[in-house]
Amino acid sequence: MSLSDAARAVRANAYAPYSNFKVGAALRAASGAIFSGCNVENVAYPEGTCAEAGAIAAMVAAGETRLTEVYVIADSPAPVPPCGGCRQKLMEFGAPDTRVTLATTAGRETSYTLAELLPGAFANAHMETAKDSA
Ligand code: THU
Repeated sequence: MSLSDAARAVRANAYAPYSNFKVGAALRAASGAIFSGCNVENVAYPEGTCAEAGAIAAMVAAGETRLTEVYVIADSPAPVPPCGGCRQKLMEFGAPDTRVTLATTAGRETSYTLAELLPGAFANAHMETAKDSA
């Protein structure tokens, strides 16, 4: 199954009764395996989780911690951009040149690297001084 097929398929299972905005995400892990996730909302709105977070959790639960490619799809007028938190979550397991394809269910696609989506990302290196002065 392709990354786009996996994202489109898992989107059907999204639990989004509050926003009515279903999102599907699929990622390819370093092994080549594909993991997917959908958004899971909650009546306590901030407790909801994004599709990207679900896909990342599935990958880590399966024992993998590197991702090489991401695909996100929603029924949006323009290809759906990951929220800020998800950009940081993807960067944790991806690389600056990791390709992230954003799509609409109507078939529009646009693609960015993770570095383009999250310029100046916070990284472990930013904590080095704090460690030194502790
Ligand atoms: N959402 C995602 O799952 N991923 C994105 O990239 C953008 C937003 C979800 C969160 C919430 O359930 C709904 O879309 C509306 O914000």
